[in-house]
Amino acid sequence: MNTHKVDAIIVGAGGAGLMAALYASKGGATVAVVSKLYPTRSHTGAAQGGIGAALGNKIGDDPNPDKPIYHAYDTVKGSDYLADQNAAKVLAEEAVDAVLELEHMGLPFDRTLEGKISQRRFGGHTQNFGEKLVYRACHAADRTGHMILQTLYQQCIKAGVRFYDEYHVVDVLINNGTCVGVVAIDLNSGEFHTFHGKATLFASGGWGRCWQVTSNAHSMTGDGAAAVFRRGIPMQDMEFFQFHPTGIFKLGILITEGVRGEGGILVNRHGERFMEKYAPHVKDLASRDVVSRAIYNEVKAGNGIQGRDYVYLDIRPETVNRYFAEAGESKRIDREYVEKKLPDILDFCRTYLGVDPVVEPMPVQPTAHYAMGGIPTNVNAEVVIDANWTVMPGMYAAGETACVSVHGANRLGTNSLVDLVVFGRRGGKNIAEFVKSAHFTDLPADADKEIKAEFERIRACKGKTRAYTLRDRMQKLMNDNVGVYRTAETMQAAVEGLRELRETFIKDLHVDDRGKRFNTDVMEAWELENLLDLAEVTAVSALNRRESRGAHSREDFPKRDDANLLVHTLAYREAPSLYGVAAPEYKLNMDKKVDLSLAADDPRFAPKERVY
Ligand code: FUM
Repeated sequence: MNTHKVDAIIVGAGGAGLMAALYASKGGATVAVVSKLYPTRSHTGAAQGGIGAALGNKIGDDPNPDKPIYHAYDTVKGSDYLADQNAAKVLAEEAVDAVLELEHMGLPFDRTLEGKISQRRFGGHTQNFGEKLVYRACHAADRTGHMILQTLYQQCIKAGVRFYDEYHVVDVLINNGTCVGVVAIDLNSGEFHTFHGKATLFASGGWGRCWQVTSNAHSMTGDGAAAVFRRGIPMQDMEFFQFHPTGIFKLGILITEGVRGEGGILVNRHGERFMEKYAPHVKDLASRDVVSRAIYNEVKAGNGIQGRDYVYLDIRPETVNRYFAEAGESKRIDREYVEKKLPDILDFCRTYLGVDPVVEPMPVQPTAHYAMGGIPTNVNAEVVIDANWTVMPGMYAAGETACVSVHGANRLGTNSLVDLVVFGRRGGKNIAEFVKSAHFTDLPADADKEIKAEFERIRACKGKTRAYTLRDRMQKLMNDNVGVYRTAETMQAAVEGLRELRETFIKDLHVDDRGKRFNTDVMEAWELENLLDLAEVTAVSALNRRESRGAHSREDFPKRDDANLLVHTLAYREAPSLYGVAAPEYKLNMDKKVDLSLAADDPRFAPKERVY
């Protein structure tokens, strides 16, 4: 057996994983970062428009006062009041220092004329408790996530963090109620490796690839979350999956909200700026759930472009300047400004669509973007396993795969990057302290036996159905039935359809490549198994929540139900075996109450109807 023994194992090399690794390492721990990708290919690199922090940097003639408490308020309101308010407070307060730390590490933020970090508007970012839009999104053009990733990777290399690149984590090891490590496959050799640690932090990202139209990279298959879920850890709030309003039509590739932050507007086939109807106060910069539903409703009413399921996003300077003038704003933009602030967006549209956004509007539609739910943690990034906040010793999670819960039912734009640096850093610091006094708990006997058997089963499959066929069917099923709007009927259809797909996966999968080295055929089948598990727990959790809140919009239960459902869902998988179960059983617990600590002192934080 290939065994590696280190104090701390970090699964995933995106922003959360790198921040955790850096801080654990600085705190004296020996650290191994285990990632299926080369670190700078991690999906953090796809985050475009900015990282929110209440720096309050002056923009032109706007004095722009901003405060962490406004950021916390927007986060809570944006979450449709499902965010834990203690976590929202931590996020907003520590964002300021985290962004300045990134700047000091060398992150090349755009600058204001005075040389400060440049900030732009984003959806739901306001000053003075919703009074007016604020400039909060600190950005490096439209490549903010990419720059964070590069900066943190350089810092980790400098700190001597050990990287296991292209090692795909496939199982988590738990012994005597303690997390003791993971099993990974070295993709190059196909060999299994066991990582034995005192602390293991999952920062393995989301699972947007459950859906057909998604902004997520092919690699976003929820491997870490699926592994811990099978081992008895609950998944929290899985019903809340965010659809970003502006993905490139059909392709799903993200068109940053920064486009609207810079003044871009959404229009329907009649040339109407339809967000004026749905969010008269902040219009195109309402929260994402509101804007995605608005696009859906426009399309349903026949107002999509050419009557189809997309609308236009317009950043042409003459359009934007007209609206700035109408609103009495002094800001004006020109071609050069757009080229400088949104270079990747222009490139994507020119390359993939042959559309030049400086002279033509962009065709966009909602795209599956972000998991608000995931592995439950407290604000110290420790994994908690029940409604009483019981901590699983040695297990941590941060970033998209975790559910702190700071995003509740709907995440605000830019808060993903804040989440991963703030809670990644907290995770790393806490791990450094934990490993100083913790002992190594033994590995379980035959640590890699079950997972090896599952891989041998997959490798030997000689049925008729390829993994990509099942994946396509799953993605369509999820798009059609667990999308922007849902009903009991559609979600039930999703659960049944997923079970059929799972049965085919078990009984009729075909794998062509039976080799070991870089066997992408087997790995894709494995990733599909993870996606099927996460898709099903998403549909089951969604079916169970009989209300509409944030990104979970039920046509059959259109109202929010604070009296009964201001609670988190904890979904446990109670399958009779780990793998190969056609119809797993679930236990759904709804006893975990939302933290309302800010509301206890300030009624502005109490749940109320959201008006944008
Ligand atoms: O629109 C964007 O640039 C995406 C940012 C985010 O998801 O936070």
